[in-house]
This record gives sequence, C-alpha cells and structure tokens, in this order.
Amino acid sequence: MDESPQHTPVLLERTLELLAPAVERIAAAGSTPVLIDGTLGLGGHSEAMLTRFPEATLVGIDRDTSALELASARLAPFGDRFSPVHAVYDEIGQIAARFAPDGVAGILLDLGVSSMQLDLAERGFAYSKDAPLDMRMDTTRGITAEEVIASYSENELRRIFTEYGEEKLAGRYARKIVQRRAQEPFTRSADFVKVIADATPAAVQRAGHPAKRVFQALRIEVNGELSALEDALPAALDSLAVGGRIVVLAYQSLEDRLVKHELQRRSQSTAPAGLPVELPEHRPEFALLVRGAGRATEQEMADNPRATPVRLRAAERLRRPETPRGPSGPRSSARLPARSERAR
Ligand SMILES: C[S@@+](CC[C@H](N)C(=O)[O-])C[C@H]1O[C@@H](n2cnc3c(N)ncnc32)[C@H](O)[C@@H]1O
Repeated sequence: MDESPQHTPVLLERTLELLAPAVERIAAAGSTPVLIDGTLGLGGHSEAMLTRFPEATLVGIDRDTSALELASARLAPFGDRFSPVHAVYDEIGQIAARFAPDGVAGILLDLGVSSMQLDLAERGFAYSKDAPLDMRMDTTRGITAEEVIASYSENELRRIFTEYGEEKLAGRYARKIVQRRAQEPFTRSADFVKVIADATPAAVQRAGHPAKRVFQALRIEVNGELSALEDALPAALDSLAVGGRIVVLAYQSLEDRLVKHELQRRSQSTAPAGLPVELPEHRPEFALLVRGAGRATEQEMADNPRATPVRLRAAERLRRPETPRGPSGPRSSARLPARSERAR
C-alpha cells in the first residue's frame, strides 16, 4: 500500500476521539458496536477505527470498485469484523438496517474523491494530467464527463458550472465549449483544459488554475454528488442508535453547506414559537458536537495539504423521534435543484 503523505487520512485523531464515546457506550451495554464508513476509499480511517475499537465491527461503503478492492486487501487482517459494500452512500439506510438493525454506533463520511482517484490519470479527475474525460467514481455505470460535455445544451453547461463550480465565467466557458464541439468533439482533458484556459482573461489566469472550478462542477454532475449527499444525510442520521455519532468531513463549500444545514436542523427544538414549555416530542433529536466547523491544524495542513480545506461537523443522537420519519416526514426546505441526469 502506498503510504505517501497524501494518503494520510484527514483529521484522523479528531474523528476517532469523536466516535469513541458512542462505541464505548454501546460496548458497555453488552452490544457489538457497528460502525459505517460511508466513504471507505483506501481504508485509512477504517483501519484506524478497527484498530482503536477492537469491540466494533465496520461496514465500508464505496461506489468505486477499485477502492473496495484495495481497502479490502488492506483490512483483510480484521477478518469478518470488516464488511465491504459496493453502493452509493445514499443507500446507507438499507445497509444500516441489514448490518445494524438496532442502530449504528458511528458513521463517518469523508466526502469527495480519494487521493488514489486523483493520482490515477486515466480516471480523468485531475485537470493537470491528460486523460480521457471520464470522472466517474463508479466506472461500472453512469455517464462520463465526455458525455456531459458532448450532450448538454449551452444553458445546462452554464448552469452546472455556476451551481456546482461557483464559476463566474460559466457563460463564457459554456459558449466556447459548444462552439468548439460543433467542429470536433472533446475526448481528452488536455484539449478541454486548453479551450477553458484560452477563454480565460489573463487577470483571472493568475488567480489559480482556470479549469479548477469547471472540473469540480463536472465531477459533481457526473457523480450526482450533491443529490447523493442530500439523500444520505437524513438516512444516516435516522440509522444511528441513541448515543450514536456521525462525523462528516467536507472539502468544498457546497457539500459543507448541506451538512451544516441538516445537522443544525435536526439539532433544534421543533417547539412552535411562543409555547411556554417544550414538550418531549419537540426536544432536539441530535446535539452538535463541534462548535462551527472543525479545521485541520497548521501542522496537519503542512504535512498533508489535502487537509487544508476540510470542514469537520459532528452530531450525537439524543433520542428517537416520537413518530418515525419517512419520505413524508419533516424534511429540509432547502432542496437542491434537480440534476439533469442521475449517474446511476
Ligand atoms: C476522500 S475518499 C475517502 C478516503 C478514506 N477516508 C481513507 O482514509 O482512505 C472518498 C471515497 O468516497 C467514495 N465516494 C464518494 N462519494 C460517494 C458516494 N456518493 N457513495 C459511495 N462512495 C462515495 C469515493 O469513491 C472515494 O473512494
């Protein structure tokens, strides 16, 4: 296994510290704590959890079959304490019901792409490496970035660059892409990056790589990342046992915003304004464990640059709802716009 610094799990100690009380409480009550790593990746966090919590079992979910293979080899010494599952993490509710019908002790979501996915040029995630325009985390299904670039209308391209890349030049890039693809389709990232770079004014060029935000937007669209997260968060919270904890690590503001809103919403009293006494059914279901968002220390950022943008949020389940939540139960009003197409 490559142990280079970029493969170091982010905020590892903090994550273990936050999950420990939940695991210990469930073990002390005589049950086997079940942990779910919803973003197994190379298994770095999972390996540390299985080592630190010898009484726990762990389910590792990833949509990337190569990640599952590599992590399964790494975690083989833990025998049947580790179960790999090939799935999108929005299936976490069903997976939890199968492996932890009495409730999950701890859930980790370490969002985004792994260093392995970025390092393998042929996956097409890195704008600095020439590769086919793929960008699927699950290469067994779904549409590729090449198909998005070839088939979306100028308006749709502008929308995803704006919404998912927060790109100010979205309209200009969409227009150039459509003009160019009418003559010759895009197949390789270097060619695509050059069209973006040529369309970028010199002053903007100096502010960072011009294709960074467009690549982020394409990756989010190809993998349906925001809608998967939006569906996964309530399901993950619902699957926790009382006393169970969730830790989420987000690396970009769109994901962090979804996490922040969902954890805050579920950690508030639902008592109508003006009610003199809070009834038991209005008490918050969750408590936030971190004030604001946790960040990496200067030292961790220096040792592991991937940790620089991370925002950690965590919550503990205080009680079960009086009435079970379901698709018709209380939900966030801050819904994301529908994706043009789901990559599943
Ligand atoms: C940042 S990496 C996780 C790294 C891991 N914590 C470690 O220590 O090696 C994120 C992983 O989550 C997976 N992933 C991202 N979105 C997913 C989703 N919606 N469903 C399932 N897996 C997903 C990616 O394929 C990637 O392997």
